[in-house]
Amino acid sequence: MEIEKVAQSKLENLNLTSLGFGTQFTDHMVISNFKDGKWSSHTIKPYAPFTLEPSASVFHYGQALFEGMKAYKGKDGKAYLFRPTENIKRFNRSCERMCIPQIDEKAFLESLNELIKLEKAWIPTDEGSSLYIRPYVFATEAAIKANPSLEYRFAIICSPVSAYFSSAIAVKIEEHFSRAAPGGFGYAKAAGNYAGQFYPTELAKAEGYQQVVWTDANTHSYIEEAGTMNIFVRLGDKLFTSPTSDTILDGITRKSMLTLCKDLGIEVEERSVAVAELLKGFETGELKELFGVGTAAVVSEINSFGYQGIQYSIDEVENPYAPLLKKALTDIQLGRTEDPYGWRYEII
Ligand SMILES: Cc1ncc(COP(=O)(O)O)c(C=O)c1O
Repeated sequence: MEIEKVAQSKLENLNLTSLGFGTQFTDHMVISNFKDGKWSSHTIKPYAPFTLEPSASVFHYGQALFEGMKAYKGKDGKAYLFRPTENIKRFNRSCERMCIPQIDEKAFLESLNELIKLEKAWIPTDEGSSLYIRPYVFATEAAIKANPSLEYRFAIICSPVSAYFSSAIAVKIEEHFSRAAPGGFGYAKAAGNYAGQFYPTELAKAEGYQQVVWTDANTHSYIEEAGTMNIFVRLGDKLFTSPTSDTILDGITRKSMLTLCKDLGIEVEERSVAVAELLKGFETGELKELFGVGTAAVVSEINSFGYQGIQYSIDEVENPYAPLLKKALTDIQLGRTEDPYGWRYEII
């Protein structure tokens, strides 16, 4: 594949131990353009601004979507991805829903592999840090007719990041706003899903919460997701998580957790949990844990939730599941343990 390298890396000027999340970018990016009915070969170029027509379709109709994945550096010095083909398949499911031409899976994985090989020195090794990878696609045709664009750009950029949340978080259970509705595109990683979340999330932040827990759009009585994480509820010694649907993102961390739970002997069920059950569990002491899972935040403990203006604090429990599951997951991601599931993908 065609690779144009930078003359001088930016890495020398970067302090890999104070990164924050998603504001620094590596030297190179993958690019492919869709025109005349086909995608061009993927190329790697120096990270640089794009030039777009003011009429580019993405600015008007928002045909844009993305994925989020991470590269890790193991103790063995090797670079690893985690279940990358799951992200690639989900990217293409999102493309289908947003009328964007799909990316060839093999070409996607190959260019991703080449990019991470090139940027390996950018993978931070501090606990909780990693190289966040952002594949995305957007409509570039210079046309403001409300139709699917005839031209697109696909790109992959990378950002060295620290942990997303540094401690347990407080969430607000949403009763008014909705993230996704049945028949909509909540299951796709469409850019618009995130734009629509910002306003309710900012309102929740002003009230002292870090994230919103989305509830079903029809009744606002069942828990769906927490911001950019799938959510797990522990009632007694059993975990519950909403089944995936067209309103919920089919999270790769969630899916991995379901497998790990079985192997760790933690009982888990995929079923919707009503807000009323959560409140009842709080009263009876059955509600023992609440946590979000996702690529960016990994496993994020939720130590309080707000509902109808009342804040409920969850007491620490003996032998919590969240840290156990987090360790089992990150041990595989970082190559600290065997990977019986074949989830780890070595960059070669
Ligand atoms: C809305 C939403 N839910 C859940 C997740 C978690 O998915 P994953 O574990 O694949 O990162 C994400 C992040 O990708 C998300 O944006």
